[in-house]
Amino acid sequence: MSEPAPLIPLEPLPLPADPLAAADAFYEIMRRRRAVRTFSDRPVHRSLIESVIQTAGTTPSGANKQPWRFVAVQDPMLKKEIRDAAEAEEHEFYSRRASETWLKDLHPFGTDEHKPFLEAAPWLIVVFKCMKDEHPESESDQVYYVNESVGIAVGMLLSALHHAGLVALTHTPSPMKFLGTILRRPQYERPFLLIPVGWPAEDCHVPNISRKRLDEIMVVDRPEPSS
Ligand SMILES: Cc1cc2nc3c(=O)[nH]c(=O)nc-3n(C[C@H](O)[C@H](O)[C@H](O)COP(=O)(O)O)c2cc1C
Repeated sequence: MSEPAPLIPLEPLPLPADPLAAADAFYEIMRRRRAVRTFSDRPVHRSLIESVIQTAGTTPSGANKQPWRFVAVQDPMLKKEIRDAAEAEEHEFYSRRASETWLKDLHPFGTDEHKPFLEAAPWLIVVFKCMKDEHPESESDQVYYVNESVGIAVGMLLSALHHAGLVALTHTPSPMKFLGTILRRPQYERPFLLIPVGWPAEDCHVPNISRKRLDEIMVVDRPEPSS
């Protein structure tokens, strides 16, 4: 058994003068994040992509196993390969695999099997979940709470992208196994999300959807027992 990690002093952020104003200001920023499907051809510097992935890498994870891999794709040939494979899967999905209910739920977004954004976006960040720890600090290569950890990491990534003024789409071509094959990832890395990233197109429009109200998503304590 290894020694517990030594403790170091926490480096807290300076306390905001008005924490509620700070929280509200952050909400005002975050509520403007939208899933974007039309990108400008303006390039995004690699250093920006490195910075947002570094932020995603600060995410908490089960036993600090950090079970994520972010593959940043900018090669146009590779993007085309990914688009072709995604569109083949999506063709099957929209014409055969998706249930009536699923297609009805997707209708408001106007999505179909065509995925031009997979070539138009200057970068694709392909997120993989790692089903084992490649360089374990302990004897075990086990990983824990992988879906929870990688899901939070994607949340951090999307927040960092938005904070930098970039836009993104969380895309899930179904199934996504082709991503591991095309990108030559090891077997234990499983595709989690495909995220085109860039600047919004000049005439970028997004679906007019609503978000649930606070009282619909938050419960304080518990309801009275039903008699
Ligand atoms: C896990 C996940 C999978 C998604 N998959 C797709 C997808 O395959 N194609 C797509 O166009 N949008 C996809 N979306 C985007 C959602 O449609 C979008 O986030 C939702 O409509 C809310 O809109 P907003 O992100 O602008 O708030 C996905 C979102 C999530 C979180």
